[in-house]
Amino acid sequence: MLVQDLDTPCAVVDLDAMENNLRRCQTYLDRHGLSLRPHIKTHKIPEFAHLQIKLGAKGVNCQKLGEAEVMADAGIADILLTYNLIGQAKLDRLTALARRSDIKVVADSNETIEGLSSAMSRAGLDLPVLVECDTGAQRCGVTSPAGAVTLAQAIDRAPGLKFKGLMTYPPKNSMDKTNAWLSEAVDLCKRSGLAVETVSNGGTPDLYSAHEVTVATEHRPGTYIYSDRSLVEIHRFGSWADCALRVQARVVSHAAPDRCVIDAGSKALSSDLLGLNGYGRILEHLDWEIYGLSEEHGHVRAPPGSGEPKIGELVTIIPNHACVVTNLFDRITAARQGRVETFYEVAARGKVQ
Ligand SMILES: Cc1ncc(COP(=O)(O)O)c(C=O)c1O
Repeated sequence: MLVQDLDTPCAVVDLDAMENNLRRCQTYLDRHGLSLRPHIKTHKIPEFAHLQIKLGAKGVNCQKLGEAEVMADAGIADILLTYNLIGQAKLDRLTALARRSDIKVVADSNETIEGLSSAMSRAGLDLPVLVECDTGAQRCGVTSPAGAVTLAQAIDRAPGLKFKGLMTYPPKNSMDKTNAWLSEAVDLCKRSGLAVETVSNGGTPDLYSAHEVTVATEHRPGTYIYSDRSLVEIHRFGSWADCALRVQARVVSHAAPDRCVIDAGSKALSSDLLGLNGYGRILEHLDWEIYGLSEEHGHVRAPPGSGEPKIGELVTIIPNHACVVTNLFDRITAARQGRVETFYEVAARGKVQ
């Protein structure tokens, strides 16, 4: 079957582009002695996680317990969950997961540590915990190296937990600052007698500068597997040819000369703009703009001279943000050179808890 014969809207992954992205990243990190721990939130497909590990990744990174459960069910043991787990329901699920996998988690507060410690000590387990560090992105994480060592000591003292190291999701284009912050935190930990086994850095936009964060031991890129419009147009990361995830749609209405409607709306593209104009880039018509979305309709402006839309015409869209788009599809089509090879269930989609 050819991809052009697929019903629309659908998500198609170009396997050649995807495998190229995976190999390039693995080769680069190997060359610099950094372990790769891909974030699976981008694809949410156990078969792709297994491929990443087969190519050399040491394990996976998940953001949600539900994602980690899907990966563990698929036989992946080495999981880092980079989220502060709060509340008994989650602690019970974490305990079950810790019994059947090599899961590690992060903490940025005494409250998180106390919850983890009481659940793990009751279960007779010893859970590795990394301190989440805010090196400038201003999301979660302790805001100073001194704060990191205080929490590292709290983890070290807590029954049922063992201090494993430091983790950050860094600000973009700030490798020197990230390295200085983490190096200071590592020094302070060592001076207080705590070994720092893992320093986990992450993100795709600065992936190929990861070696500049010399204190890091591993890197956690997610979007690198598929790439997307935000990487190409905002971060100047790669080209359209590297964008492995595409949404195929068809023109279903052409009621006015300068605009048309495609059958991909927010249910297929998400409403994420990420600071861009428009909701995706149409590869066949780079100057058409998807200027609006309703749930099932994509509103497209086709400027004069840019090619007259034809009802039934197939368009290939590079979505603004790959991770949120994969969360919208039950399955994706895997294709090579325009031919459908197989379909994959997006097994970890919709795992919001
Ligand atoms: C904690 C953490 N690590 C790694 C990543 C992967 O980042 P990227 O998709 O830029 O590769 C994310 C993405 O949101 C994240 O939140």
